[in-house]
Amino acid sequence: MTQAFDKLVALLDYPMFVVTTRRGDEPAGCLVGFASQVSIHPARFLAGLSKRNHTYRVADGASHLAVHLIERRHCELARLFGGETGDEVDKFARCAWHSGPHGLPILDDAAGWFAGAVLSRYDLGDHVGFLLEPLTGNAPDGFEQLVTFSDVCDLDPGHEA
Ligand SMILES: Cc1cc2nc3c(=O)[nH]c(=O)nc-3n(C[C@H](O)[C@H](O)[C@H](O)COP(=O)(O)O)c2cc1C
Repeated sequence: MTQAFDKLVALLDYPMFVVTTRRGDEPAGCLVGFASQVSIHPARFLAGLSKRNHTYRVADGASHLAVHLIERRHCELARLFGGETGDEVDKFARCAWHSGPHGLPILDDAAGWFAGAVLSRYDLGDHVGFLLEPLTGNAPDGFEQLVTFSDVCDLDPGHEA
């Protein structure tokens, strides 16, 4: 059964997100595939952060997260956030960003983003689910091709899950 599940999910080509947050002066962010809207009324979104990630440790003490969608022409941005860890490099020195709502780091080259309040955290196994209430953001009229799993599945993650 596990084999079938592993095979099935490996065939999916879901959109990738960059999730950022900040605790005090410390910004953090990583590439996230385990993320989805989970309710319409009220609007809710769940983002899964690996317990090993620098981003998780910062998010553990944060009240808000920002969720970004990245177009394929900016795939390098997604690769930066998935291939490097904030434990070793300052990813935010390598990309353009500004301070947004609640002091959240907002990536200038994102195609769209929203900021959400962390309502609760769920221990899911090797990841923790952050349940978000979307508060504000920026949405274009449409997207070009977004970065999806197949664009980044060759990447060596900054941290193993
Ligand atoms: C295809 C792919 C999917 C990933 N999905 C997630 C995810 O859903 N949640 C997560 O926390 N990390 C995920 N990662 C791993 C992190 O993005 C990666 O380990 C990152 O370097 C961690 O950075 P940090 O230590 O600065 O937080 C994924 C990486 C790749 C390549």
